Amino acid sequence: MNYDVKTEFAADAIALFTTEGTPVPPKAGLLGERVPDAIAASVEGSRFNGKAGQIFEMSAPEGTQVKRILVIGLGKADAVDHKALENAGARAAKKLLTSGYETLSLVGLSDEADQAHLLMGARLACYRFDGYFTKQPDDQKPSLKTVSLIVSATDAAAAAWTELEAIAEGTETARDLMNEPPNVLHPESFADRVKEMEALGLKVTVLGEAEMTKLGMGSLLGVGQGSIRESKLAVMEWSGGGDEAPLALVGKGVCFDTGGISLKPGPQMEDMKGDMGGAAAVTGAMKTLAKRKAKANVVGLIGLVENMPDGNAQRPGDIVTSMSGQTIEIQNTDAEGRLVLADVLTYAQETYKPRAVVDLATLTGAIVISLGHENAGLFSNDDDLSNSITTAGKTTGETVWRLPLGAAYDRLIKSKFADMRNIGGRSAGSITAAQFLQRFIKEGTPWAHIDIAGVAWKEGEKEPADVSWASGFGPRLLNQLVKDSYEG
Ligand code: BES
Ligand code: MN
Ligand code: ZN
Repeated sequence: MNYDVKTEFAADAIALFTTEGTPVPPKAGLLGERVPDAIAASVEGSRFNGKAGQIFEMSAPEGTQVKRILVIGLGKADAVDHKALENAGARAAKKLLTSGYETLSLVGLSDEADQAHLLMGARLACYRFDGYFTKQPDDQKPSLKTVSLIVSATDAAAAAWTELEAIAEGTETARDLMNEPPNVLHPESFADRVKEMEALGLKVTVLGEAEMTKLGMGSLLGVGQGSIRESKLAVMEWSGGGDEAPLALVGKGVCFDTGGISLKPGPQMEDMKGDMGGAAAVTGAMKTLAKRKAKANVVGLIGLVENMPDGNAQRPGDIVTSMSGQTIEIQNTDAEGRLVLADVLTYAQETYKPRAVVDLATLTGAIVISLGHENAGLFSNDDDLSNSITTAGKTTGETVWRLPLGAAYDRLIKSKFADMRNIGGRSAGSITAAQFLQRFIKEGTPWAHIDIAGVAWKEGEKEPADVSWASGFGPRLLNQLVKDSYEG
């Protein structure tokens, strides 16, 4: 599939965008003098008036260069933000993806840069993960080959598209990694895919179990010890800045979470192939930063393990020693994400002395209870970092909501036998998980933890561009954070 910005529209289908109360799109005249009147006549008597979500479809009047016209509503003129443009672009593309037409031209409201978000929405909506179907009927295969944003002067929109394209690629990478089945994407093959990203100019290092044993990563290694796959720590470095300390992005990469000996119930367990959503987000973000050659130093570190029950698996009651030297009593082998992150966080700080650390993890079911699928949970020891992430969330639509940390919560993870235990009680499950992570953050290091268990994949009605199981949450938010706070 091709996506581009150009001045000439193509022959198949054209989508004209308009705002509420103006059913005839401002740029309809582009198709010919008579077209605005033809649209007005067609729309007459229908309910189409440009509301968000509305689509009016008609054949093009004779003598027009295109076959099909779609008129797409953007909603109220004073509320046309990036999200509204993306949703509308997504709806246009979805309508035509398998229609038989090969080209779709998008005509926005103006030539301005923000109109590139129409193309962004179209691209994310055309994402497919269908490589495992062997008998897909021909009429269900995508027919669209090119989607173009049409402007009379390409400069502004084309420049905006270059950046959005890098974000789309990061999002698609995160979706692909998440959607892959866990027999295909396990710690070893995930690390191989990260290694391939060296082609983008990233420096990639992969540590295996021997190296991690030497480093004393008993916490991470304990989680993977029941798996036949070797646990890995993959590190991606992007050095686009000067000599300043990097921002560290840390991701939970549990390629499959059975719960281990504290086995999870069967229903929906297949979703736990997505328990590497944090690692997918970090990997996608590193791809975006490399693709757009970000002027910042960023290091992505992902802990890759598989949590399996086995004769050699970790038991409830085991005590492990983390790389930080702190000991942990395992009370539930299903609270494994924090155990993985503990050692990756320590390694990140000791190796890179980062300016700040942001971790992403599908860490707790409790965050889905608290925030549903609308916001990721944010925890931080630093108000500036927290505010930057919240703002980046609002800018991109990948929104977060901050929850508290505090000594009273920290007491809940006291252990009778070791420095801490890996679960709290029944209450405040997402917060006690965050308190656990904070014990591995060195004094003075700004840190934020984003619990993405509710947003990495979603149930219920989803936004029009969120078309596959995996949402691809993360690269976009992290890219915006880098752009706002760590670049230039
Ligand atoms: N990966 C899960 C959290 C999760 C649940 C992610 C649902 C996405 C959807 C995590 O490893 C886990 O099992 N957490 C436990 C912690 C508990 C044992 C303290 C949970 O949330 O139940
Ligand atoms: Mn678990
Ligand atoms: Zn997990």
